[in-house]
Amino acid sequence: MSQKMWAGRFTKEADERVNDFNSSIKFDARMYRQDITGSIAHAVMLGECGIIEKSESETIVKGLKEILSDIDSGKLQFDPNAEDIHMFVEAELTKRLGDTGKRLHTARSRNDQVALDVRMTLKDETREIIALLKKLTQTVTDIAKKHTLTIMPGYTHLQRAQPITFAHHLMAYANMFVRDLGRLKDAYDRTDTMPLGSGALAGTTYPIDRQRVCDLLGFAQITQNSLDGVSDRDFCCELCSALSILMMHLSRFSEEVILWCSWEFKFVELDDAYATGSSIMPQKKNPDVTELIRGKTGRVYGDLMTLLTMMKGIPLAYNKDMQEDKEAIFDAIDTVKLCLVTFDPMLATMKVLSENMRMAAAKGFINATDCADYLVKKGMPFRDAYKITGTLVHTCIEKGCTLETLELECYKELCDKFESDVFDAINLDTCVMQRKSEGGPAPERVKEQIEYVEKAIEKY
Ligand code: ARG
Repeated sequence: MSQKMWAGRFTKEADERVNDFNSSIKFDARMYRQDITGSIAHAVMLGECGIIEKSESETIVKGLKEILSDIDSGKLQFDPNAEDIHMFVEAELTKRLGDTGKRLHTARSRNDQVALDVRMTLKDETREIIALLKKLTQTVTDIAKKHTLTIMPGYTHLQRAQPITFAHHLMAYANMFVRDLGRLKDAYDRTDTMPLGSGALAGTTYPIDRQRVCDLLGFAQITQNSLDGVSDRDFCCELCSALSILMMHLSRFSEEVILWCSWEFKFVELDDAYATGSSIMPQKKNPDVTELIRGKTGRVYGDLMTLLTMMKGIPLAYNKDMQEDKEAIFDAIDTVKLCLVTFDPMLATMKVLSENMRMAAAKGFINATDCADYLVKKGMPFRDAYKITGTLVHTCIEKGCTLETLELECYKELCDKFESDVFDAINLDTCVMQRKSEGGPAPERVKEQIEYVEKAIEKY
């Protein structure tokens, strides 16, 4: 086994089991690009500030670029025995450059290095997730545009409640996604802070230029306190929390798609490419994608809990516990990306069975509120109108008819304010068209919601 960097201080080699236990290369190797890019900026700054020779800085930069391209091309493989990606790159550089390579780590610690790498990685990943979510929001909005007149029952307690349109229902999710985009952007902005130069915890005596590294790496600002710079992982918790809320929304949406696919609803039909069959029941067409999204939501919540619990008892500054941040946040990122890239095309190819939605809307007395409102508009206090309508619904259930098919005499028997125009007032189309309050299901209002969402996502 190769000698440890700190061998001078020790009289024994590390136990094999400790080596394996300590190593994070399995999961931090994915940050190799960020690690090398960060090291290049650091080496440039060291040269410019006269901390190392200009020529050595140039040699280091060239060496690092070669390592990057060798990893990219597969020519250089990660050493599974390396402790982490930082040690691996430095050891490789020294192998290639000799003593010059050993100068790279001047005025730096792995503590500020790992903080930098994780921030850079999370910035890249957050940008990707934002792009995927923006695309999904557009897909939802595009489907909504086609269904501003598709009447369906709106539910409370999963009981048919009042008439809405499919577009109105979809735009509820689009609004949730707009807020998710905002949360991701907020998390991004706080992640966009450059910690290098914090050193192990107490900065450094070298005349470094932190702002220069910040500019070279395209960060918005530098961290303000070196202890905080190396020990802050709020940005991981914040991203994971935004991802958990996004998964909660995707999971609710998935649950509805699952219900809509059932024979009990049959509001939609999934494309064959996005459904699965059963190994025993030949008739089955299962919405596995949405069930998996619902299931994977728990995983992302678990990652958030891992991060919060990992951090809650750590004294300042760096402690090895913090190595646990990566598996949790990477798992959350990968899970969300996987869900987004699958859910989007599944939704885009889903067939909407408008007729069935309309049929469901025709049952369940979802126009009862409108019937009461009819009496209110004729001067009756709402509570009295509510009571009369309740009695009417009871009559309908006894007679096995609907409010639309109940004879006018039955209406008049209960209240002489009813005229034949009541049938117009409780007509489902009228009910939806008349719900013109801001945010409501009337087609012109839903069109406003569509415009709002399209404008809101433009900036991402
Ligand atoms: N692999 C470590 C991590 O992920 C890098 C930092 C190690 N620092 C240290 N002082 N042991 O956190």
